[in-house]
Amino acid sequence: MKKRVGILTSGGDCPGLNATLRGVAKALYQRFGSDVEIVGIANGYYGLIHGDWRVMDPSEFSGILTVGGTILGTRRTPFKLMRVVGDDQVDKVAAMKKHYEEMKLDCLLCLGGNGTHKTANLLSEEGLNIIGLPKTIDNDIYGTDVTFGFHSAVDIATEAIDRVHTTAGSHSRCMVVELMGNKAGWLTLYAGIAGGADIILIPEFPYTIENVCAAIEKRAANGKTFSILAVAEGVYDSKEARMKKKERMAKRAEEGYTTATNRIARQIEELTGFETRVCVPGHMQRGGSPSPYDRVLATQFGAYAAKMVEDENYGITIAMKHNHVGENKLKDIAGKSRLVPEGHGMLEVARRMGISIG
Ligand code: F6P
Repeated sequence: MKKRVGILTSGGDCPGLNATLRGVAKALYQRFGSDVEIVGIANGYYGLIHGDWRVMDPSEFSGILTVGGTILGTRRTPFKLMRVVGDDQVDKVAAMKKHYEEMKLDCLLCLGGNGTHKTANLLSEEGLNIIGLPKTIDNDIYGTDVTFGFHSAVDIATEAIDRVHTTAGSHSRCMVVELMGNKAGWLTLYAGIAGGADIILIPEFPYTIENVCAAIEKRAANGKTFSILAVAEGVYDSKEARMKKKERMAKRAEEGYTTATNRIARQIEELTGFETRVCVPGHMQRGGSPSPYDRVLATQFGAYAAKMVEDENYGITIAMKHNHVGENKLKDIAGKSRLVPEGHGMLEVARRMGISIG
């Protein structure tokens, strides 16, 4: 019997999306040969809502293992607006169901992060056959130890820290490296450890500037004339921790900051006298070729998803659990996120190494 499998990439991109598309496609063609057709949906749920799709040629999945970005395009279509009818009068959920029917799909594979998984679960609850695949450089999808994209971003962020390390040493400066991660600090924690940062600040643990400066001064007292800070973009201090997000953002805007990083740099200069610079690698962390780790992970996840298509096991997302690829039910993970918990082994490693967490 012929199979028709829809596939889309949604949310922020990351290295490894194409490698995962290739993994799914190659494994499906391997199993079903010409009895499978893959329907590529452009720009994530936006394409599903607006009926932007095409049947892919198998050759389109060749030569993309090492290519960054996504050949399908992606877009952020916020989950909270899925049930809201906008100015265009489009009922998004009804439109997605209609196009799923029109494409005559047996199932739909949704590659994305937390928002993507919430919508994937919604579609599953609406009766569509959905399989999720967990991507994000933030590594914050509940129920999987790792997401594809994360380790590539760690490599890039580590390289950024390595490069500022030498210039910090030459100039006897503090360097504040702002890394991606609004809510989850995994990327900053891993890259900070890999890059030998002296201070790691992550959103899960509000910092105090006094602790940050004390760590810098302790290093100075030991003859270290420079310090490296790895700081997640979403960090806030202990005073801000008592504020609502809106209040915090309004106060920051008033002071002329968006993220805390520039404020931290100014405060370090004021309180310690150390000249301080900020480095923001930004979207570089999401660009370019996936690392070998992510190529392997993407291929494992893709091949497993193809097996789930064969087994007609829907309403799930692929996951890595204790080094084994498996799956979770979408309903069990949607709407939850995986943050760095107090007592996590990697946090303990950092503390034992004398790294300040702020
Ligand atoms: O979710 C991945 C992520 O890279 C976050 O770390 C970051 O805060 C956000 O996306 C940036 O989003 P955008 O690309 O829409 O600016």
